[in-house]
Amino acid sequence: MDGSSTVPVRVKAHYEKYVYPGFPRLSSVRGCDTYALNLEALWARFNGERLDPQTGQILLAGSGSFSPYPTAMANPKARITALDLSTANLHRAKQHTWLHLHFNVDFLAGDLTQAIHLFGKKAFHFIDCYGVIHHIHDDLAALQTLHALLKPGAFARLMVYSRCARRFIQSARRAMRILGIQDVREVKALYRKAKLGSRLRECLDATHEAAFDSGLADLLLHPYAKTYTLNELLGKLEQAGLEPLWFIHPGALTAVNAESARLRNLEIERTLTVNFALFVGRKEDAPLRHEWDNAKADRETWLSLNPVMNKFLPLFPVIPLRPAPRLGFENPAIDLPGKFLLSRFNKPVKRSSIKPAHRETVEKYCQALFLMETIR
Ligand SMILES: C[S@@+](CC[C@H](N)C(=O)[O-])C[C@H]1O[C@@H](n2cnc3c(N)ncnc32)[C@H](O)[C@@H]1O
Repeated sequence: MDGSSTVPVRVKAHYEKYVYPGFPRLSSVRGCDTYALNLEALWARFNGERLDPQTGQILLAGSGSFSPYPTAMANPKARITALDLSTANLHRAKQHTWLHLHFNVDFLAGDLTQAIHLFGKKAFHFIDCYGVIHHIHDDLAALQTLHALLKPGAFARLMVYSRCARRFIQSARRAMRILGIQDVREVKALYRKAKLGSRLRECLDATHEAAFDSGLADLLLHPYAKTYTLNELLGKLEQAGLEPLWFIHPGALTAVNAESARLRNLEIERTLTVNFALFVGRKEDAPLRHEWDNAKADRETWLSLNPVMNKFLPLFPVIPLRPAPRLGFENPAIDLPGKFLLSRFNKPVKRSSIKPAHRETVEKYCQALFLMETIR
């Protein structure tokens, strides 16, 4: 017995004890910072089509206690399903979402690897599975489930631990196990005693997660946390019929192949410091995506405002507004002229009609997903 069959039970018990992330119920996010979770903008990015927001189906696979709230804020018209092993996380997520007056989320307790039985024939436009796959022993089954639950043209956002970036935390986690430490209070006591410059101190000081109890528990007391090299991750995706579409961790290059090569080099030099965050899609939809890429190059397209930006941009951004980076790079600031420029895209505008003087800024806003581009 290697204990693998008890992993879901132990992981569930961990998240029943440590609600993650442990944000206060009233903590809120700026509306504009949810721009990268908007389904219409993401659908346009990958498919070049407008999606009727009323028909949008989003799955938060391993939702945790917080993500339903910003996702609902970004997608008030879509139907969102929050699935999680932990009823404590779902309960907190429901409170948080309701307290902020969002009621378009269904909360469902269950195991992602069994989700096909839960959902029957239902499929989703967007699945957010952030920080979850590495906690599932049968990660291939989880990825295959994601594949099965994606509609044609749909995509999933993943974050998984990088072996290189996570190595110091993993050794600290092993040390906790050897020392028999099972409680956050004991971890904190150890941290207080740790010398300045010690491994434990350095590794905890370097991460914002260590600032709250459930973050500390996630880092050091988690019953199951696997890490991946890039090749291992790509191999698993391939086996599950998925392919990377866009890496979005800090510093990522836009082109998938260029970013993969960069990551491999960093792994060889052992200087990779970020986990892998990326959008993936079904391999069988690749021809559709190629068609969209080709169309962009040689057909007329239309640009319109990301609905989140439309709703949350201040009327007069006297102090330039810079939405938080969610796609791996710093966002362009939106100053007063930028706001006026963006407002023109309240209604779709033909790309060919954009004045040369505005093209560079418009390109940056498209890249940042403040604007979305479609064929019609
Ligand atoms: C690190 S938290 C991430 C939460 C959220 N995605 C976020 O980014 O804030 C991992 C979550 O995945 C859930 N989880 C782990 N294994 C799961 C499984 N097999 N099925 C469903 N949820 C699972 C845990 O209960 C926990 O809420």
